Amino acid sequence: MDKTYLTIALPKGRIAEQAMQYMEKLGIYDVVKSSSRKLIFTDDVIKVRYMFVKAVDVVTYVDEGVADLGVVGRDNILEEGAEIYELLDLGFGKCKFSIAGFEGTDLYSKDKILRVATKYPNVARKFFDSRNQPIDIIKLSGSVELGPLVGLSDVIVDIVETGGTLKANGLMVLEDITDVSAKLIANPAAYRYKRKRIKEITAMLQERVEKSYD
Ligand code: PRP
Repeated sequence: MDKTYLTIALPKGRIAEQAMQYMEKLGIYDVVKSSSRKLIFTDDVIKVRYMFVKAVDVVTYVDEGVADLGVVGRDNILEEGAEIYELLDLGFGKCKFSIAGFEGTDLYSKDKILRVATKYPNVARKFFDSRNQPIDIIKLSGSVELGPLVGLSDVIVDIVETGGTLKANGLMVLEDITDVSAKLIANPAAYRYKRKRIKEITAMLQERVEKSYD
């Protein structure tokens, strides 16, 4: 095995547990679980360094080349619009980007500027631009469902997984934008210079993904 160190950025939070289970095969899971506040783990045997970062920052670490690889939701990739390579669909973290609001809310009207609350301003802007619908973005960091409830926005653009949060707040999906799932991404330069090692890791994960479909 080529022994160049590889650095992999893994997300903390929502998709962390599943991401870690995928990394189990690379021998990391138990080590990390026993010390959950530590942010960098190095495995000197297989020469892999793992960095734990906020999910929204994974793309930045990979784009800047601080991490060679990263595990991240397609939602964050679309929002960041960075020049990274998508190597593998990991098959978990499945959800949708949707527009949601109260039943009967009109999304399209040339005379009206639709107010959209979201954690994903770039995704929202791009989608409504493609529909020629003028919008005002209200950028929030979480609990965006509050937007329509308190009259801050007409609708939200957000990820919907079970639909439970929308339902609990009397809201519904008005239109789907696109599917989202977890991806293995690579920094383009690292992909060139550490190709052999990246291919080894990708092959191990690919095998893991295929097994989960059995
Ligand atoms: C996400 C998303 C929705 C919710 C959707 O929020 O922004 O609020 O999950 O999931 P559901 O369809 O299964 O209910 P997250 O839990 O990441 O927290 P946040 O609102 O603080 O961003």
